[in-house]
Amino acid sequence: MANNNRKVVLVGTGMVGMSFAYAALNQSLCDELVLIDLNEVRAKGEAMDLNHGLAFSNSSMKIYFGNYSDCSDAEIVIICAGVAQKPDETRLHLLQRNTKVFEAIVPRVVSSGFDGIFLVATNPVDIMTRVTYELSGFNAAKVIGTGTTLDTARLRYLLGTYFEIDPRHIHAYVIGEHGDSEFVPWSQAIIAVKHINEMLAAYPDRYRMEDLEQITQNVRHAAYEIIKAKGSTYYGIGMAICRIVRAIFSNENSVFTCSVRLRGEYGLRKDVFIGNPCIINSSGANRILELSLTEEELEQLKSSYQILDENFLSIF
Ligand SMILES: NC(=O)c1ccc[n+]([C@@H]2O[C@H](COP(=O)([O-])OP(=O)(O)OC[C@H]3O[C@@H](n4cnc5c(N)ncnc54)[C@H](O)[C@@H]3O)[C@@H](O)[C@H]2O)c1
Repeated sequence: MANNNRKVVLVGTGMVGMSFAYAALNQSLCDELVLIDLNEVRAKGEAMDLNHGLAFSNSSMKIYFGNYSDCSDAEIVIICAGVAQKPDETRLHLLQRNTKVFEAIVPRVVSSGFDGIFLVATNPVDIMTRVTYELSGFNAAKVIGTGTTLDTARLRYLLGTYFEIDPRHIHAYVIGEHGDSEFVPWSQAIIAVKHINEMLAAYPDRYRMEDLEQITQNVRHAAYEIIKAKGSTYYGIGMAICRIVRAIFSNENSVFTCSVRLRGEYGLRKDVFIGNPCIINSSGANRILELSLTEEELEQLKSSYQILDENFLSIF
């Protein structure tokens, strides 16, 4: 990190961006938070509103409406700008529109002299992270997408309820595209101290593979369900972004299923960004943890990878 001032610039002060900002204020996540949005009036209003909460918080965070020159000495630029899914739209439907949005944002961040870490949440997040990587020319370790971090949190919550174990002690991941082709490699799932297969074998009347497959389906469809019910999803992703930012600032070496650029893992050589467990610290995402997938899981990952690669190539 360049200095001791933990400065974050947030581009996109819509529902996702402001859910992050509100959580960040409550968690005293950084020292300085700059808000940028195409809709300047909204961003100014959001800055005012958050500042009025400072007196009730433990934070002395400096929060203000800014512009791209504010990125020059920031540690992290978070991008939540762009269009969100409407009911019955997939995340991939947003690709063309959000690529145009990123073409208006990323070069301006880079021109400021920014030399920190990009964290992308805009959908389709894996491809938007790759777009950020291409537009910025940054080292891949410094371009991170939220990937399947939220999906993994949803999975752990549902498994925690099913097995009646605190989700923080469930070690299971959703990997692949943050979207319809994502999947759970069950061969890698540990429930507290036991492999999931041992749990199924030990309690056949209580726990069944069919239930786990239903949980996978519920995770995959969670966003659709929330969007149908309330228009969009934002609190969960806001918390996920906060958690990743904390891991960067505190140099934690924590593991998240962020969207990261593969470098030959799984025999997949091209530079696709995809959700996979990786170590997050103050250098960004510089270690990818390759899972020992079964053949079937590897096929699922390859299919997700192909969808992401083909869609990225379709932009040009
Ligand atoms: N990664 C995840 O897990 C996850 C979860 C939920 C939502 N999302 C995605 O996050 C994105 C934002 O969702 P939202 O609900 O906050 O949408 P929103 O419509 O509430 O906010 C989007 C904001 O982007 C701003 N914007 C648009 N173009 C811009 C530009 N060129 N420069 C600066 N700002 C610009 C808009 O003015 C708006 O304030 C969507 O793509 C959504 O699909 C991702």
